[in-house]
Amino acid sequence: MTGFSSRVEAVSISGIREVFEAAGEDAINLGLGQPDFPTPEHAREAAVEAIQSGAVDAYTSNKGTLELREAIAEKHARDNDLHVDPEDIIATSGGSEALHIALEAHVDSAGYRPASERAQSESAGQEVILPDPGFVSYDALTRLAGGTSKPVGLREDLTMAPETVEDAITDDTAAFVVNSPANPTGAVQSPEDMREFARIAAEHDVLCISDEVYEHQVFEGEHRSPAEFDDSGNVVVVNACSKTYSMTGWRLGWITGSTDRIERMLRVHQYAQACASAPAQYAAEAALTGPQDPVDEMRETFRERRDILVDGFERMGLECPTPKGAFYAMPKVPDGWVDEVIERGVVVVPGDAFGENGAGYARISYATDTETLREAIDIMAEATAALE
Ligand SMILES: Cc1ncc(COP(=O)(O)O)c(C=O)c1O
Repeated sequence: MTGFSSRVEAVSISGIREVFEAAGEDAINLGLGQPDFPTPEHAREAAVEAIQSGAVDAYTSNKGTLELREAIAEKHARDNDLHVDPEDIIATSGGSEALHIALEAHVDSAGYRPASERAQSESAGQEVILPDPGFVSYDALTRLAGGTSKPVGLREDLTMAPETVEDAITDDTAAFVVNSPANPTGAVQSPEDMREFARIAAEHDVLCISDEVYEHQVFEGEHRSPAEFDDSGNVVVVNACSKTYSMTGWRLGWITGSTDRIERMLRVHQYAQACASAPAQYAAEAALTGPQDPVDEMRETFRERRDILVDGFERMGLECPTPKGAFYAMPKVPDGWVDEVIERGVVVVPGDAFGENGAGYARISYATDTETLREAIDIMAEATAALE
């Protein structure tokens, strides 16, 4: 029988799914990683019009329509003070595909070794330094590319220290991943950190993959991209419409980087995907060029909920670094807390689903309405009290 590749045997289905399945049907779900808002009307309409006119019946250019890439370039000029040539952008199927093609194109595997001879935690390819706890795809996509994950711990405030990354670099390092604002922590890196990440990428000649999909959900501090500080060409930026415009189902993201890196990533994208979904490209172009009020409204709503949740943790006596962005909080929780909360009908994700250093924490998503959030806080408080 044909077996399975050692690369695919090195990953498993995300632990987050298991949590959802364990919860009852009426459970309040604070486990979801997507905004609970509608996609802006003008984005939906642009897709409908494009469908009805027949404009989306054919493949677009592999990199995406020029109009979309111009809109993305304009976005980078507007938000990041960054000059990006539309030719140095690939529209992808969500931020997920952007991460995938970045790792496929830059991480070398060490060659074939049967899965039976390789522990699940072991891989022999080039190293990718990742935040731990961190978004689950970084580790899985590294393994699928045949690489080796090098998780690094975070500071007390759950940001990733540039010196920790620098210390972890070896001759085998292909890349390191920066994610700010971060999933699962809600932490936001300072501009000084971002400048340091750019310096490290240049000085050590390793790739910095900057995942900026939560860029617009910043409540305190400011979002800066390492790309702003880079002139070595060693930074690629991953972004998406998913979280900014509540368009997770549309599957539209992108990656920008130097011309030679884009050309290599395009090789992967071309054969795996051909092009991003054409209707989604039209919707994304409208979202990026249209009124940005929905983005501001979402951010303000998330900020209010963040305050309610952090206040709730304080009253429960749970320590929680104040999340400065995204829509997640990561309190330290006592043993048995996650099970106790789930049993009482609130779905939260155990911190160790995001890496070993996540043990003893839980990820709470506040992408849910205020009333439901307050109800969930009462339940979490009861669960906390029951464990005391
Ligand atoms: C940090 C981070 N990066 C990338 C993604 C992928 O986003 P997309 O839905 O655009 O593929 C997610 C989704 O949860 C995320 O949390």
